[in-house]
Amino acid sequence: MSVQLLIAMLRSPASTGALLPSSRALANAMASAAIGADLVVELGAGTGPVTHALLHKLPGVPLIAVEFQASLARRLKSRYPAADVRQTSAKHIVDSLINRPGKIVLVSSLPFRSLPKDVAAETVDSLCGFLTSNPDRKLVQFTYQPRAPFSAPRNLRWKRTSVVWRNTPPAGIWELQEES
Ligand SMILES: C[S@@+](CC[C@H](N)C(=O)[O-])C[C@H]1O[C@@H](n2cnc3c(N)ncnc32)[C@H](O)[C@@H]1O
Repeated sequence: MSVQLLIAMLRSPASTGALLPSSRALANAMASAAIGADLVVELGAGTGPVTHALLHKLPGVPLIAVEFQASLARRLKSRYPAADVRQTSAKHIVDSLINRPGKIVLVSSLPFRSLPKDVAAETVDSLCGFLTSNPDRKLVQFTYQPRAPFSAPRNLRWKRTSVVWRNTPPAGIWELQEES
């Protein structure tokens, strides 16, 4: 168990959404799904297992790692100096990148099913607007649930690309992008 994630969970259970960090297998599968990106934006980086895998699997690709909780963001900054760590909300960063050219992949561990409803709704709107404005973009998201992480508008399509059994609990990896 990660002490940092446990403390974050006690402080803010709905936003943290998990007691255990993602396993190496899940983190590697998430990172592999971002191969080919010009820029990766990691949402909800937490203690950094996915950050670590992204830096390892996509060397030289710029990585913005977003984490809302200050103590976790501080730790990410000192452990992963190669990542551009931002202590702010996912919505804030995604909105600020809406006009950025290139293939941008969002890699998210945000716990949509447990986030406060207003935060979940405004974040979903922001992500869907971001994906809709350029068909080259995609969102990679894991979930412990047997269904899509959140409902998306009709022009975007969810696809479950794999299930990672070597994680507690097992997690499905889903990708969301514009319908072709
Ligand atoms: C389930 S934890 C995942 C941590 C890590 N990525 C992993 O895979 O183990 C979700 C993280 O998202 C962060 N978070 C929740 N809401 C957020 C938001 N709106 N913007 C940025 N980070 C957020 C939480 O603080 C928490 O660290």
